[in-house]
Amino acid sequence: MPRTPFYLKRIIPIIVLLFTFISCGVSASPEVQPDENGSIDPELLQGREVWGIHCSSCHGASGQGGRGKKLNNGELATSYPDQTSLISVIQNGKGQGMPAFSSKLTIDETEAVISYIFDVLN
Ligand code: HEC
Repeated sequence: MPRTPFYLKRIIPIIVLLFTFISCGVSASPEVQPDENGSIDPELLQGREVWGIHCSSCHGASGQGGRGKKLNNGELATSYPDQTSLISVIQNGKGQGMPAFSSKLTIDETEAVISYIFDVLN
């Protein structure tokens, strides 16, 4: 077997590292942007954290869907015009695939993730 040239040996780990960074970037949930006054709403930051820990694995980093339903196409506001019904879906679960989060998320955390879905993902 021919020996791998030296320059290739050096470049392969760099390529592997680059791919790792790129794929991490793609799977990260969208950042919360500052408003016109340059301040960042802490509720949205909390919502992003909850989303990354509990929701993005099924609904996709940007809510694009996957194992869970697509949540970033503006339909949620039509299907759930009042926040109470949306809180209840997240707390109690839905159908076969959507788990109940009442034992994992407080109402505040649930409201925060809803704000993140509406204000950042949609
Ligand atoms: C284990 C996978 C999974 C996880 C984790 C998950 N979901 Fe879901 N979710 C689903 C599936 C599947 C559905 C579709 C359920 C159905 O309609 O039968 C769904 C439905 C929903 C719906 C209702 C959508 C509609 O149009 O009726 C909302 C809202 C929702 N998820 C929000 C969340 C939030 C917020 C989190 C994180 C706190 C989360 N989900 C975590 C799988 C998941």
